[in-house]
Amino acid sequence: MTIDSSKIAPDALTKAQAEAELSRLSELLQKANAAYHTKDAPEISDADYDALKRRNLEIEALFPDLKRADSPSDQVGGPLAEGFSKITHDVRMLSLGNAFDAEDVTEFDTRIRKYLGLDEADPLAYTAEPKIDGLSLSLRYEQGRLIYAATRGDGQVGENVTANARMIDDIPQVLDGAPDILEVRGEVYMSDADFQALNATQETQGGKVFANPRNAAAGSLRQIDPEITRQRPLKFFAYAWGALSERLADTQFAAIERLKTLGFKTNDLTKRCDGPDELLAHYAEIEQQRATLGYDIDGVVYKVDDLDLQARLGFRSTTPRWAVAHKFAAELAWTRLEAIEIQVGRTGALSPVARLQPVTVGGVVVSNATLHNEDYIAGRDAKGNPIRDGKDIREGDWVQVYRAGDVIPKVADVDLSKRPKGAELYAFPHVCPECNSAALREEGDAVRRCTGGLICPAQAVEKLKHFVSRGAFDIEGLGAKQVEMFYHDDQLPIKEPADIFTLRARDAENLSKLQNRDGWGEKSATNLFDAIDERRNIPLNKLLFALGIRHVGESAASLIATHYGSWSAVTEAMDQASDLAGEAWEDLIGIDGVGTVMATSLVLAFAQDKERASIDRLAAELTIQDVAKPDSSGSPVAGKTIVFTGTLEKMTRAEAKARAEGLGAKVSGSVSAKTDLLVAGPGAGSKAKKAADLGVETIDEDAWLSLIGDAG
Ligand code: IVH
Repeated sequence: MTIDSSKIAPDALTKAQAEAELSRLSELLQKANAAYHTKDAPEISDADYDALKRRNLEIEALFPDLKRADSPSDQVGGPLAEGFSKITHDVRMLSLGNAFDAEDVTEFDTRIRKYLGLDEADPLAYTAEPKIDGLSLSLRYEQGRLIYAATRGDGQVGENVTANARMIDDIPQVLDGAPDILEVRGEVYMSDADFQALNATQETQGGKVFANPRNAAAGSLRQIDPEITRQRPLKFFAYAWGALSERLADTQFAAIERLKTLGFKTNDLTKRCDGPDELLAHYAEIEQQRATLGYDIDGVVYKVDDLDLQARLGFRSTTPRWAVAHKFAAELAWTRLEAIEIQVGRTGALSPVARLQPVTVGGVVVSNATLHNEDYIAGRDAKGNPIRDGKDIREGDWVQVYRAGDVIPKVADVDLSKRPKGAELYAFPHVCPECNSAALREEGDAVRRCTGGLICPAQAVEKLKHFVSRGAFDIEGLGAKQVEMFYHDDQLPIKEPADIFTLRARDAENLSKLQNRDGWGEKSATNLFDAIDERRNIPLNKLLFALGIRHVGESAASLIATHYGSWSAVTEAMDQASDLAGEAWEDLIGIDGVGTVMATSLVLAFAQDKERASIDRLAAELTIQDVAKPDSSGSPVAGKTIVFTGTLEKMTRAEAKARAEGLGAKVSGSVSAKTDLLVAGPGAGSKAKKAADLGVETIDEDAWLSLIGDAG
């Protein structure tokens, strides 16, 4: 007799029945999702969908080892996300640099004055306004009509959430008297009261319960079905803009006023301030009101008020020079440190992680926190000076945990009066817990690293996880979990990035086909191979980031990609710079934002035989898109190498360099045969002479300004 397991209560299922049930539920939910996405006739009601999902979760909780690699419970919050089309932002959506204390704020002011060449006594006004803890959204209006709404995404490309944004009351659909093209940027958020109410409803209906208002806002906006967004009480504050056909006003403050007149909600706590003291006073004021505002904020944003000055200050790679976010102090809680575990990262770093008795810190349950490195555990800093008055941290200790914003929680302090008797000094391992290779600490490095390189499975897996992550190759259906699975797969292993791209071919030759495996079918296997093929064509910056080279983060990868333009130019330069000297090396470290530490790490990654072979195998599988140099069409100095010397009187050296680079020029510190132009101010000495000797064209500051179209 066969028993229909779908009717049995989860806790009465045998293991075999549970396995069959999970497979059935996965299939049903997948089908429901697909029907929902394409929106031709959803096959089951929302309530039935939720019930299936809940049953799946319950069974997984009872039989954790049966949880499937393609578990529906990992597809968070019901059917969403994948279905959005992409929108490329006209003007990039950037993030903000942070300030944590009064000193950082004064430094922000000093830095700006220095860049602009202003004295301490010169007036310099700012605006200060709450930093809303939601998600940013860009709204494009043309001829006063809302054309599209896009999330920030990676800053360049966001998700098209127009239909959902139209459901938000605070977002006007039409504007009266607006510039022909107007991109309004701001924050979508949910009030605390609405968040509580939503969670209460979700709980009774068995839906997803959100950790905080920001997650609730994000989950509600990124719904495939705008009808769901309509039912969620989202709000919107406007605080910035992107593309404009004409300027909104002369100052930040007036521009925000203008947005308000046009019908947007702007924050009443926005204030014009005359300098750091007033900024800090307004910060204190906002902090005091924080608990009673009714919505979450996580700091105060300061912006240079004068829009001409903002334009002069411009941007670093991912943040504006003219603004900063002054964050509120972190939230704290005390709990028991149950164990210290060591994780091995993609660069071999041994990172100690505190396993904590779960505790709520600022509304979020925290059960892990970082302990940084061995010195931190021992109670000293990198220079050997005591931290926490020299108190070390031991397993079993009572510790203080804090978290600020999105960052990983940290352990701040330890209460020695509660230390269990017999607690032992923590001995940091000197061998890698994953591959038993020696773990060494180089002089001047705070971190101990596994020397196993590619033989260390932890490093290899972490590298692969990074490779497929968002911002890197971002392959649909190939996330951290799948990579881990394939890494350990005997039939169809993925041991290095190149293996991802040979997967389809190897599968075709294989007897044990992926589609015959547990949790896989013909469709899911084909989908995976297709998703992989879709990423064979990859922009240079993404590839450079994906390689996971130490110190080369997302923005550095972009800088390097823009500098060299093509993959062949990168490899050629790396080969020429392999002895960390010479022209190619100087050229590399001359990139604004690339220091010697990063450059060394980059060059060595390409110079090491095994690593290089692995990179070459990968590159052979890909079509690598060139990255265009910054738009310098019409720029008279694009591609030229320029040297500044002597005193500049109309702008600072930093500004001159940033402007020239913005126009596609390369700014060098010394004159050589490769120099195209020397801009010499009063007091120019040996460089002017050398330029004359070499026959390099030399002009003064005024001529330079008129050359770039900015005399006067
Ligand atoms: S200005 C070019 N103002 O904070 C900079 N951002 O950490 C434009 N945010 O991505 C941002 N409140 O999502 C600005 N009053 C405010 C803000 C704000 C929240 C968010 C925004 C941004 C992030 C940066």
